[in-house]
Formats: sequence, C-alpha cells, structure tokens
Amino acid sequence: MKIAVLPGDGIGPEIVAQAVRVLDALKSDGLEINIEHGLIGGCAVDATGEPYPDATHQLASQADAILLGAVGGPKYDALPREKRPEKGLLAIRKALNLFANLRPAILYPELAEASSLKPEVVSDLDIMIVRELTGDIYFGEPRGIEMRDGQRVGYNTMIYSESEIQRIAHVAFQAAQKRNRLLCSVDKMNVLECTQLWRDVVDEVSKSYPDVKLSHMLVDNAAMQLVRNPKQFDVIVTGNMFGDILSDEASMLTGSIGMLPSASLDSNNKGLYEPIHGSAPDIAGRDVANPLATILSVAMMMRYTFNQDEAAQRVENAVRKVLTQGLRTQDIASESMQILGTKAMGDAVLSSL
Ligand code: IPM
Ligand code: MG
Repeated sequence: MKIAVLPGDGIGPEIVAQAVRVLDALKSDGLEINIEHGLIGGCAVDATGEPYPDATHQLASQADAILLGAVGGPKYDALPREKRPEKGLLAIRKALNLFANLRPAILYPELAEASSLKPEVVSDLDIMIVRELTGDIYFGEPRGIEMRDGQRVGYNTMIYSESEIQRIAHVAFQAAQKRNRLLCSVDKMNVLECTQLWRDVVDEVSKSYPDVKLSHMLVDNAAMQLVRNPKQFDVIVTGNMFGDILSDEASMLTGSIGMLPSASLDSNNKGLYEPIHGSAPDIAGRDVANPLATILSVAMMMRYTFNQDEAAQRVENAVRKVLTQGLRTQDIASESMQILGTKAMGDAVLSSL
C-alpha cells in the first residue's frame, strides 16, 4: 500500500500526525504500508511558489492512496487566485480525476448531545452524501471578473456533460445498493438547465438499478429537509457546488465537523482521504484540534482503496470505544467530560486499537 501523506496547513500537520500513528500501528500488525510525505497548499507555496507542486503531483500519481490534512490560512488570503492554497486542493482532485466524493454523516450515539438538533431528530442518523467533485461551476469555463459597459462583472459557468453525470450516478446507485437502497438526487431543475440535464441523466441511469428507490429534490428544499427530518435520507447524490454546501450542513447534524471523514475516488478506487473540515488556523499549533475525522479517513482508505474491511472496522471501533469511555476533544465535549488534546486523543485511539 503506497500512501502519500500531505499534511497541508493549519491544524493539518497535527491531526495527520495522529492518523499516521494509526497507519503505523496497522503496519506493525502486518499490513504492508509505505508512507511518503509531500507538500500541498500554503506550505507548498512557501516552499516552492506553487500550491500543488510537480513533485507532489508525481508522488500522488504514483501512490495508491493519499491522506490529506487541510489547506489554507489567513497568511495566504492576499495571494492571487492561482496561488491560493485552495487551488492546490482543487488541482489534485482534477489532476487525479477524483470525481466521486463520498461524505458520510454518521451520528455517534455518544455525541447526540453535541448536535444542535433535538436528539430524537438525529439519533441513529446515517447519511451518505455523494458529491461530484471535478466538474460544475467549480471548473466551468468561461469564468472571470472583467469590465463591461463601465462596470465590473463577475461570472462563472455551471456545466455538466452527460458522461460526468452518468459516472457519478453509477457510484451513487451502487453506494445505495450497499445501504438502504434509497437514493435522493438533488438539483435545481426548476431554474437551471444544467441541472435539468442532471435530473434526466440520473433518471436514465436509474433503469439499471431497479432495486434502488430514486427520488429527486430541489436543493433549497433539500437544505430545509436536512434539518427538518434528516433521517428520511439514505444516500444523496448531487453536483459539486450543492454538495459542498449540503455536506457542511449535514456535518452539523452529527455534532461536530471535527468527526467527519471523506473519500474522493477515481474510477479505479484510487483515493484521496481527508477530513471534511478545514485548516482551522485559529486553533493551529495548540494541540486542541480533533484528530478523529482524519483517523476515520484512514478507515475509509482501508475500506475503499485497499478492500481491508477488517482494518477499517478496527479503526472505527477504536474511535467508538474512545467516545464510549467519555474521552473528548474540546469541540465535542459537554460538561463533566474529560477533555483531551490532539496528541492525547491519538494516544487513546491507539491504546483502544
Ligand atoms: C471542501 C472545501 C473545498 C471545496 C475548498 C477548500 C476549496 O470547502 O472540500 O468542501 O469547496 O470543495
Ligand atoms: Mg466545503
């Protein structure tokens, strides 16, 4: 297993260090794991002038899987768009064709108190958001800011080809087949032609999956339904932009954005694994960040890229056990709980592993 580790910026290095300890533990228990480190985001700009340097692209191309922390920080906010840390993340997704972004939102019963919704609304919540990751308005051309008739205008292009929609739809239907066989496709077909095509193509692909019950929902309604009655959902499939927004919303149902891992896969299940949260510069370097989303990303890596279900489950169970013991980082703690720092949380996961 060749794994490229790209810690990135902010809390990235701290949380990734704990996830690497988990990989090391799996290695000493017999998995053939080889790790190499690389630069992405702001730290890569500092070192090379580019957010996604060639050397990182080489490393990532040759790896089977990539573990990434987070990118970005206020230090880089003034850089031109092409040099911003976020560009590094978008570039690696595009360069490696990682079009299928799986973002599970699972509520651990131990954390029901940490959710801002009533426990009965979120208990046993288990949703999978399948977000298309290499198309849509994120990458569409033309784009820009320019002068027209004496004033500035800004514009972007929302665009999907039918093959892009087909391949993400297949991923979503297959994910639903392994779960509760419900798929909700989210679009804005009442206004946007691009998403009318999305709906039509998803309908066509659904003919190959008669065992999955497909529904369609407009994105504004989906945003509302996610907080009204989130348990109606099993798998949600949507485009890049809507998926970005809805997955942040869904994360909060589970109590903390610090708990949610993600996988971004190509058509051969090569994948980039990262927590869905950002680089949290405000708490970076203080040993308080929650490493669990990154550790759970290692579990997803074992499951999706390496087909090591048992290793995946071991890691997930270890996290579960730590939560059951009442151990918490500050973001998920309620009163009378023992608050651990980043490294101490890593220690706890390793000992329960
Ligand atoms: C995410 C992030 C990224 C995105 C940013 C950092 C470019 O918000 O992974 O959800 O918009 O995709
Ligand atoms: Mg986002």
